[in-house]
Amino acid sequence: MEYKCCSHILGSIDLSFSGFKYCNEVWEGPEYISYKEDNAFQKNEDRRLKLIEEMKNGIIPERCRQCPMLELKEWKEFDGSIYKITVFNWKHCNAACFYCSVHSDFNEQVKKSDDYDALPVIKQLIEQGRLNSDSFVAFMGGEPTMLEEFPSILELLLEKNCRLEVLSNGIKYEKLISDMLNAPKNNSLCVSLDCGTKETYKKIKRADKFNEVVNTLKQYVYDTKENSHKIKLKYIVLPNVNDNKYEIDNFFNIAKEIGITTVSRAVNHLESKMNTKNEAIETSVIKAYEYFARQAKNYNIRLMEEPWADAIIENKVYNCRKISPLTRLKANLHFFFGKN
Ligand SMILES: C[S@@+](CC[C@H](N)C(=O)[O-])C[C@H]1O[C@@H](n2cnc3c(N)ncnc32)[C@H](O)[C@@H]1O
Ligand code: SF4
Repeated sequence: MEYKCCSHILGSIDLSFSGFKYCNEVWEGPEYISYKEDNAFQKNEDRRLKLIEEMKNGIIPERCRQCPMLELKEWKEFDGSIYKITVFNWKHCNAACFYCSVHSDFNEQVKKSDDYDALPVIKQLIEQGRLNSDSFVAFMGGEPTMLEEFPSILELLLEKNCRLEVLSNGIKYEKLISDMLNAPKNNSLCVSLDCGTKETYKKIKRADKFNEVVNTLKQYVYDTKENSHKIKLKYIVLPNVNDNKYEIDNFFNIAKEIGITTVSRAVNHLESKMNTKNEAIETSVIKAYEYFARQAKNYNIRLMEEPWADAIIENKVYNCRKISPLTRLKANLHFFFGKN
């Protein structure tokens, strides 16, 4: 049937910190259902089904009207299959990058969060036969390797042959990540290094763990051999922090030394993917962004495109929500008075 709907409503789940919902595209909603709420899982599914019916009748919630995912097209009838899950533990992390909106709890221990409870939801989806080899699961937001249930979740999803992507800071090595990369599937690992020196690492991540990350990466490359191209090393170009040749050259030297064959660059998207263009982007960032691509070529390392970041650079503005002076102040305090 042709109607306005989106692929999230028709098969995604956002397992976020404070609860979960069927969509992770719009910050405004739908509301999260707490993991602790009675029948939380069923409530989320009921509202998904109700919304699909409403959309078939042309009723579009206010929050969805601006969403780029909303599309008028011939949608396949929803059969319960889940095509995308984001595991978003949100605040649990062993670093505290000054650019990150996670508000890290800066905890170096692997732990079970009081509020976060993704594992039962994933188990339920598996029991209901709703995950398969077409399902894509991304681990992000907070540090996945610091979540106690991360290995159990990963094992279950590997068994179901889902396609997996892990975004990690690489401070903690996790053997199952190597297994995931060695699985016969296009799984991937993205490690955000963001710099080429220990000093800058400490400034950005507020954790003195540059050497640990290098060692973890070496181990993943060693474990995965011909699959090591599935590891991507990422660099967010940050004004007055790492937007210089020295840092970028060091990044490529270390990448080469480790045996990394894929890199990507990004810019600070600050708060949101959507909304108004308001912040002029610094010239030094634009230059460093271009220099990064040239160096990737010189070092014969594949540069993975980040179209959203390219678009920001091309427009020379941050395509993001306006940051309030308070948020900016908090970020600055965070940067100057960090633990390390
Ligand atoms: C929030 S992190 C969580 C995963 C992991 N802890 C890490 O550092 O890669 C998920 C991704 O968002 C990116 N990220 C976080 N804050 C960002 C920002 N302000 N601008 C652009 N990318 C950002 C990180 O580089 C990372 O690739
Ligand atoms: S390591 Fe990842 S989750 Fe942790 S603060 Fe940095 S970007 Fe955020």
